[in-house]
Amino acid sequence: MKIIIDTDKNTLTEEDAGMTRVLGLYSREAFASISRQWVRVGWNQKYQYTFSWMGRPVIQLPEDMIRIQEVISRLQPDVIIETGVAHGGSLIFYASLCKALDKGRIVGIDIEIRPHNRAAIEAHPLAGYITLIERSSTALETVREVAGLVKPGERVLVILDSDHSKNHVLGELDAYAGLVTPGSYIVATDGIMYDLADVPRGKPDWKTDNPSEAARIFAASHPEFVLEQPPWLFNESRLESNITHWPGAWLRRT
Ligand SMILES: C[S@@+](CC[C@H](N)C(=O)[O-])C[C@H]1O[C@@H](n2cnc3c(N)ncnc32)[C@H](O)[C@@H]1O
Repeated sequence: MKIIIDTDKNTLTEEDAGMTRVLGLYSREAFASISRQWVRVGWNQKYQYTFSWMGRPVIQLPEDMIRIQEVISRLQPDVIIETGVAHGGSLIFYASLCKALDKGRIVGIDIEIRPHNRAAIEAHPLAGYITLIERSSTALETVREVAGLVKPGERVLVILDSDHSKNHVLGELDAYAGLVTPGSYIVATDGIMYDLADVPRGKPDWKTDNPSEAARIFAASHPEFVLEQPPWLFNESRLESNITHWPGAWLRRT
């Protein structure tokens, strides 16, 4: 595709497969077009590897953090389960929300928690909110251990941010969806991979091998889950779509 931004004429022109679309540069549609390319270029530049939360690196796009904060503040879960710990920044972020809400605790699962990351998480002032499990998220022992940490009647939110291959995410969805309480979500993050297959750091097979595909397959055979972006709690614009690394991620239990 060719995109031409003309700041003299205030137009954005998309040329794709012999078709031409001319948009007003300041329109909602132009914002969507620019945002899509911004996400692709930013991902390739590792923009998401430039943030930290209260001292720990967090590998996320800030809008995704704001959006999940909206969900957490609305749902006020008792337990937040996250697969994929890395440096621990996302765990600390969720823990800081639990502290602010005076509600909730976190279970973080990673196949390998490097000693310096574990030490930093365990020494953090918010460590008391976090239980770490070091094992594959889909190992039966892990799934049993996590289930044992949830008490009957507790509200549970699950975030899948570990191995992003379609098969692994499908395995995680099968393993953890049963813990999600009605009205809450299981979030298959980083589905943006489908739109990164052709960027320099991407891989061609990501077009179909990605978390959004897993979420779509899972939703098709689980009518108790619907795929839908959580509502924005504040919106004085005409915009309605997240600018995100997590498209097609949010499975809400009905
Ligand atoms: C994208 S990082 C997590 C980022 C973190 N949630 C954040 O926001 O900063 C992915 C993590 O998944 C872990 N991982 C990979 N395969 C896994 C598996 N089978 N089970 C659990 N964790 C896995 C990796 O070790 C890595 O730390």
